[in-house]
Amino acid sequence: MSTTASQPVKTVAEFPAAAAEFKDAIRKIVRSHAVNELYGAQVFDEPAISFAPTPYAKWLTCRVAMEEYGHHVRFRELGEQIGIPAAELVPGEKKPLSIFAFPLATWEEFCVIKLLADLAEILQVEDLLNCSFHPLRNLARMTMPEERFHAQFGKDFCTELCKTPEGRARVQDAIDRYFPMLPAFFGKTGSKNNELYRKYGIKQRPNEEMRADYLARARALVEDHLKLRLPEVAPEAA
Ligand SMILES: [Fe+2]
Ligand SMILES: [Fe+2]
Repeated sequence: MSTTASQPVKTVAEFPAAAAEFKDAIRKIVRSHAVNELYGAQVFDEPAISFAPTPYAKWLTCRVAMEEYGHHVRFRELGEQIGIPAAELVPGEKKPLSIFAFPLATWEEFCVIKLLADLAEILQVEDLLNCSFHPLRNLARMTMPEERFHAQFGKDFCTELCKTPEGRARVQDAIDRYFPMLPAFFGKTGSKNNELYRKYGIKQRPNEEMRADYLARARALVEDHLKLRLPEVAPEAA
């Protein structure tokens, strides 16, 4: 039996019988989550523990780091179950996404990354909440509350930092330098991969719609809530 575009794949055991195109698409998504979650934990979340200014902030940052490593562990487990070679489930030869090339040096930068990059992650995970591959859908459902906590962490600490003029200036500076990398995270307009994901009900929305939604949500946080400026970026900044 081969999967058609409309049939869900309910278990890992059903996966081998699915259409080759479907299996490739699922492997691509699981591989990128496994790699990116680990990469992010290594370059941002774990180092940020040393920047956190108080025991309370360190405690919460440890929790964020623990959860980000945990996301890697879960996606990696699923990846192994669906036949992705172990070497492809960790950062390797391939160049990391540009959002990870940002050299983290301050607490303010970390808070801005949680505010804005984890919001981007929330949109990606939201799009998998009704995924036709149920093991991936279930993983997304499990991961969602934690990603929401990370974004809330970013919002709460940025709000706190913005209570002083120096803090506001430092948060604005971090936004100016980090935010322009984020729109490209949603992929290209008219992407063939994305078309395939939607054909099989793996994902729900086109990249350009996700990006527009992200920009609106980021603007609400930065401009309406923090009363700071969101830098202008080319809609297709890649
Ligand atoms: Fe994560
Ligand atoms: Fe996160």
